[in-house]
Amino acid sequence: MAAIMSISRQMLRVSSAPLCFAGKACFASKAAQFKVCVSGGAGGIGQPLAMLMAMNERVKEVSVQDVSMAMVPPAGVAADLGHMEFPSKVVGYAIDPSKPAVDQLEECLTGCHLVLVPAGVPRKPGMTRDDLFAINAGIAKGLVDACAKYCPEAVIGIIVNPVNSVVPAMAELYKKKGLDPLKIIGVCTLDTVRANKFVSVMTGTSPMDVAVPVVGGHAGVTILPLFSQDKIAATIPADKIAALDKRTQDGGTEVVEAKAGKGSATLSMAYSGARFGGKVLDGMAGVPASEYCYLASTVTELPYFSSKVDFGPKGVVKVHDIGVLSAHEKVRLEEAKAALKLEIQKGLEYAKTC
Ligand code: NAD
Ligand code: LMR
Repeated sequence: MAAIMSISRQMLRVSSAPLCFAGKACFASKAAQFKVCVSGGAGGIGQPLAMLMAMNERVKEVSVQDVSMAMVPPAGVAADLGHMEFPSKVVGYAIDPSKPAVDQLEECLTGCHLVLVPAGVPRKPGMTRDDLFAINAGIAKGLVDACAKYCPEAVIGIIVNPVNSVVPAMAELYKKKGLDPLKIIGVCTLDTVRANKFVSVMTGTSPMDVAVPVVGGHAGVTILPLFSQDKIAATIPADKIAALDKRTQDGGTEVVEAKAGKGSATLSMAYSGARFGGKVLDGMAGVPASEYCYLASTVTELPYFSSKVDFGPKGVVKVHDIGVLSAHEKVRLEEAKAALKLEIQKGLEYAKTC
């Protein structure tokens, strides 16, 4: 019991709605009002992410969507999750990727409030996230087209890489369809999660007490942690900041190399995706919530940028400025914007061809 309580307390960071750890102990299904789809739900991120979303007490239904030749059939993932003692219903949906997703996902997506998209290919050692664009943009487009038709009011959390280019591409597609581009949000929570953990290890504090803003984008130098804006991180000596910044930028590569060609971050990403998803659902339930994420923005001269976002009943309600920066962060901001500009351009060019 003590262990369960401790896990629950930790999970409060995921969302103001605690996860259920036993059907009897959770708030009861009255609070469960939202339908969530995890596209790529049979994959490395998708399976644990679907599990964490099924455990969120605001969730009444989870669609686990993947392709028919996935490593595990989505119906199998759903059957497995469906035996856990939570109120949520879990349903699997397999599509034939040689046919348009939009022709196959009506039941899966209809009524969804939140669609989380880790569907796509992860990188291997030596690759950049940008190398994944050609294949992953096509996968995302198929799914986003289907969301536009069946759940146009849903928030679409783009996890698939390269986030910096896929989000502009998909948001422009939403614009072309007359839909709200702010429904398309890049999930960068893992950068914040890593920065918090690295700071906590360096300072001997609890990661739960650290909240480092990470702005910019989600690749290499575009990942800009603002250590000066967190009270614990701000105590770190200035001569240690550049290395900490670099480790945060390279967190994904650290995992890709450690997995030695067998994938990229999955479990920390599922945790981060569930933290993001929980915040979106909190907002929809009328409980104000914020997260750092990447979306259409006027915070800088770039049309897409990651900064703090407040969520409300329909999704995004406010995109915050980045605040006061240290001298190191000012230099890094210019570096981040220069790289991000090109990656945004790639997404905008893609959208023009669709
Ligand atoms: P994975 O290969 O384990 O899983 C991907 C899943 O997507 C597979 O099950 C595959 O069958 C499925 N898929 C492919 N096409 C699909 C389609 N049309 N519809 C539905 N499902 C489809 O990969 P993973 O480790 O889960 O990573 C997925 C993506 O997430 C990668 O692009 C990776 O780079 C990215 N990622 C992003 C972050 C982030 O912080 N935003 C973190 C980690 C990984
Ligand atoms: C991450 O940051 O872990 C992801 O973007 C996956 C990757 O390729 O690094």
